[in-house]
Amino acid sequence: MTDTTSTQAAPAPLMTLQDIRKSFATTDGEHLVLDGIDLTIEPGEVLALLGKSGSGKSTLLRCIAGLMAPSSGEVLIGDRQLDGPNSQTAMVFQTFALLPWLTVQQNVELGLEARGIESKERTQKAQRAIELIGLDGFEDAFPKELSGGMRQRVGFARALVVEPDVLLMDEPFSALDVLTAETLRNELIELIANHEFTISSVVIVTHNIEEAVVLADRVAVLGSDPGRIKALFDIEMPQPRDRDSAQFVGYVDQIYDLLTQRNHPDVGGGGSGKEQAGPDADAGGDQSASLTALPLASVDGISGLADILAREGTRTIANLADDLGLEVDDLLPQVEALEQLGFAEVHGGRVGLTDIGTDFAGGSIRREKLMFAEAARGQVPLVATIVRALERSKSKRIGAGFFRDALKRRYNDSYAQAQLDVAVDWGRYSELYTFDADRDEFTLEEPHDH
Ligand SMILES: Nc1ncnc2c1ncn2[C@@H]1O[C@H](COP(=O)(O)OP(=O)(O)OP(=O)(O)O)[C@@H](O)[C@H]1O
Ligand SMILES: [Mg+2]
Repeated sequence: MTDTTSTQAAPAPLMTLQDIRKSFATTDGEHLVLDGIDLTIEPGEVLALLGKSGSGKSTLLRCIAGLMAPSSGEVLIGDRQLDGPNSQTAMVFQTFALLPWLTVQQNVELGLEARGIESKERTQKAQRAIELIGLDGFEDAFPKELSGGMRQRVGFARALVVEPDVLLMDEPFSALDVLTAETLRNELIELIANHEFTISSVVIVTHNIEEAVVLADRVAVLGSDPGRIKALFDIEMPQPRDRDSAQFVGYVDQIYDLLTQRNHPDVGGGGSGKEQAGPDADAGGDQSASLTALPLASVDGISGLADILAREGTRTIANLADDLGLEVDDLLPQVEALEQLGFAEVHGGRVGLTDIGTDFAGGSIRREKLMFAEAARGQVPLVATIVRALERSKSKRIGAGFFRDALKRRYNDSYAQAQLDVAVDWGRYSELYTFDADRDEFTLEEPHDH
């Protein structure tokens, strides 16, 4: 997709990532999070890093910011090798990361202080940034007095005021409600387009496909387990972009397709180097390798989408989302769940029910439950693991901590818990097992009539 016809010599990249690998030590070895990442940050571009939860987006951003050293590979600034905090970057965090005991003005001045700028200049620069970012009148307020949107404005002001070469943003809008996020996104596009701050490039991490296509000149799609760059898209559309245009929808569809092409790390057993041996491994002792992420979708959401697809037939995901008044990304977990269960198939940005999916959607409540149970047990690794472990346990009960620990070897704490919550929802509904929240324990369901 890169323009190879251009005769002009391309300007040198601002930063170059060369063969970045990053692994974390875990209780049973190394967890490889990023593997062989080659990427450049070009002058003047907005680059989006897109990937599912746990694909290593934040880790990659931290390596660029020099907040974390890669296990191997290099981050080059021009041709100098980075070996510490990257002073040519400033970061906007998802959770704002403001200091609660400092006022807005003081929070914004922080970055300038760290760069040794003297007090008078600091005040002036911070005041200008505060004004540009719409925080006028809030200079003396403390973060706790501000709404989420206003807090993130402070986050932006603090990063922009130092005028870094590269502005790094880690899901800066995802903690905000949809409307506030939309407002801030548009304001940011305007600030960048008007060159109000002297920054060259922006790297934004997101798991929202539309956000990436709205903002970015290039979108890098990260696959999971381990995180590798699956593809780079040049978004060749002028700003502001029309989300309803065929071109926009085309990009979203292509990227969606790529993201939902799941890696199957267990199939073919490629390279985890671990033996899948014996009943103990099966009972969950070493299940982390086969715990493919469960889409975070509720049973109600899944069966709701199945009903809609039964009525509508095969649909383009982007159009379907539009008709339902949702973002494409809102539909992603449900679509993925239907796919994992074998109830739907996705091709070329279109989703449609399979034969058993149609059966499932048209069935009685009892039949839906049975079909769901069979599919989940057969095709959803986490559910299968829980059932197998319970069947092999003498007391037919197992503390949830057992599975939580296995998940935590792979995912961060909140994502591990979210996965477990979904497994509880799915298992309860399909009557494969029950969950006692007080005892934090799974119990095998007594077999009913199935
Ligand atoms: N300091 C750490 N120690 C151990 N494991 C870590 C550490 N930081 C991240 N990980 C693991 O690395 C993987 C990637 O994490 P990372 O936060 O980079 O993903 P992400 O793509 O940003 O996910 P999200 O969309 O949920 O923010 C996860 O499995 C996480 O548990
Ligand atoms: Mg992250």
